[in-house]
Amino acid sequence: MPSLQKLLSPFWLLLLLWSSSSFMVESKCKKGCPALASYYVWTGANITFIAQVLGASTDDILSYNPSVPDKDRVRSGSRINVLFSCSCLNDGQLLGQFEYKVQKGDTYAKIAQEYYSNLTTANLIQNFNSFPTNNVPENSILKVPVNCCCGNSDVDKNYGFFLTYPLRPEDSLSSIAQFSNSTPSLLQRYNPNAKFSAGTGIVFIPAKDKTGQYPPLPSSSGLSGAVIAVISVAVVAVVIMLAVLFLHMRRKKKKKASLFLDNSGEWLGQSVQGSSRKTASSLDAGNRGVTVDKSVEFSYEELALATDNFSMANKIGSGGFGDVYYAELRGEKAAVKKMDMQASKEFLAELQVLTRVHHLNLVRLIGYCVEECLFLVYEFIENGNLSQHLRGTGKEPLPWSTRVQIALDSARGLEYIHEHTVPVYIHRDIKSANILIDKSCHAKVADFGLTKLTEVGNYSAPTRLVGTFGYMPPEYAQYGEVSPKVDVYAFGVVLYELISAKAAVVKQNASGPDSKGLVGMFEAVLKQQNDQNEIRKLVDPRLGDDYPLDSVFKVAQLAYKCTQEDPHLRPSMRSVVVNLMTLSSTTGEWDTGTFYESRQGSLVSAR
Ligand SMILES: Nc1ncnc2c1ncn2[C@@H]1O[C@H](COP(=O)(O)OP(=O)(O)O)[C@@H](O)[C@H]1O
Ligand SMILES: *[C@@H]1O[C@H](CO)[C@@H](O)[C@H](O)[C@H]1NC(C)=O
Ligand SMILES: *[C@@H]1O[C@H](CO)[C@@H](O)[C@H](O)[C@H]1NC(C)=O
Ligand SMILES: [Mg+2]
Repeated sequence: MPSLQKLLSPFWLLLLLWSSSSFMVESKCKKGCPALASYYVWTGANITFIAQVLGASTDDILSYNPSVPDKDRVRSGSRINVLFSCSCLNDGQLLGQFEYKVQKGDTYAKIAQEYYSNLTTANLIQNFNSFPTNNVPENSILKVPVNCCCGNSDVDKNYGFFLTYPLRPEDSLSSIAQFSNSTPSLLQRYNPNAKFSAGTGIVFIPAKDKTGQYPPLPSSSGLSGAVIAVISVAVVAVVIMLAVLFLHMRRKKKKKASLFLDNSGEWLGQSVQGSSRKTASSLDAGNRGVTVDKSVEFSYEELALATDNFSMANKIGSGGFGDVYYAELRGEKAAVKKMDMQASKEFLAELQVLTRVHHLNLVRLIGYCVEECLFLVYEFIENGNLSQHLRGTGKEPLPWSTRVQIALDSARGLEYIHEHTVPVYIHRDIKSANILIDKSCHAKVADFGLTKLTEVGNYSAPTRLVGTFGYMPPEYAQYGEVSPKVDVYAFGVVLYELISAKAAVVKQNASGPDSKGLVGMFEAVLKQQNDQNEIRKLVDPRLGDDYPLDSVFKVAQLAYKCTQEDPHLRPSMRSVVVNLMTLSSTTGEWDTGTFYESRQGSLVSAR
């Protein structure tokens, strides 16, 4: 029996991982398809050139563009449709891939914006090539990725062929609907996050083939896909039932276990007493090995008991993926996040990050439980989340020096996952609701459910869009490009929140100053720059006059840099930390700074 139990734990986690990936099948591709690229003909471009960069023959191009009489007579300012192959990459992304031979003086930006007519972006090209931005060697061959679409059975099965269309300033939703013979609502459903009149970005438009027909989604593959999904869900269900059965049997023999305290009174988050065993299981997530270790596994009974049966009175929060309950667990305060089985991807992401990464400014994981539901157990953070402090009722307004401290603490947490861990992580859901405040008003970053693991310098290409509107940078909302600069942008929005106490969420259909969102509101003021006093009207009224204008202005300027549209212009978290440290040392009330610093140094685990 014990040997079986030993086997079961890693097996169980592996299974979760597998099932979570099969739940995701819907949003990931299984196979590619033909697709069209809409090439805007800039002055000086010609069919020969377009054929060359997009790897097509001039004849093929002419056959798709009956309005062009011959290859030497193409009007600049018109658009040419070019057939290409949209393939399903290993990681489930759909992408067309072209090759470009570098000429003297080329930059990623020039290649994307001019030669590829904005069908791709400098960032995207850079993600697929290892040369640094300012030094792309002449004659090297670059891989040039272009996003594409093969259709979506949830939207409409009648469309299976799509045009990748870079938006230009003259475009709008209605003009595109008109020329493509579709309806605005259909276009919007295929491009849920696109702003058609933005003048930049790409959208996918249902397209006709040479015969003038709209090719539908291939039906057979859809069917077999569904069958596979049903079978895999059934198999997963059966195995989960078996696993739960085993866990039940084992639970009966369980003894009480207790957590160790280290001498500073903090939980170490691990235990070797009783039968609450350490788990050290190796998971294989794609081709990256992931090790989950040093967490305590709790039983359902124990968590139910500790949270008064998950009573409403114990509920302290809820977010996108579950409810959080206050617990008194083995004599210590804890927070228990309860997620349903569908959230296994988020559960695993969080488990993986928090068991590997430890830092004073990141919430600490104590353990987990996979009976009945998925549970994560954290250290309890007494003062709730930042959003509650800024906008909740019944909380004292945070003094300015505390706000600067919270900014610095969370910046440190982010800097740590961006720069000091291997692999590097990107949080992807930084917002005030995910920043927790402890009893001494220090901040900790929480909620790692959407965290993405990234190898250094290899930021992944478009992925499933997750996160929170109002905090998403344009390159992510439009192209799904993920880099640490996604977190920097969101952090900038949090800085604006700290100043103004206003919510970041952009209200739909709002008019007046609110419609631009927090970033827009601050930009309108900061762009005039000459007068610091202008910023006063955006400062949280609850601060009264009790703030140093100079410091507020500097934080606003920092936020402005963090929320630049071009990710390359945003600072790194490291430089944000340096910036905030200089600021906080002049804000006063920071005598604890050095003490805090050294305490942090000793607690950071070397990894
Ligand atoms: N360790 C904790 N201590 C105190 N409160 C917490 C803790 N973890 C989460 N919370 C509260 O629960 C809310 C939701 O938690 P979060 O981890 O963000 O879950 P979700 O993934 O559902 O968004 C937080 O905004 C916070 O108010
Ligand atoms: C086509 O365009 C390319 C790039 O602008 C240029 O180098 C080439 O001379 C042009 N060819 C013709 C036949 O106009
Ligand atoms: C590509 O986009 C940039 C920036 O939006 C714009 O300046 C440029 O003219 C565009 N290029 C083409 C060929 O449309
Ligand atoms: Mg959350």
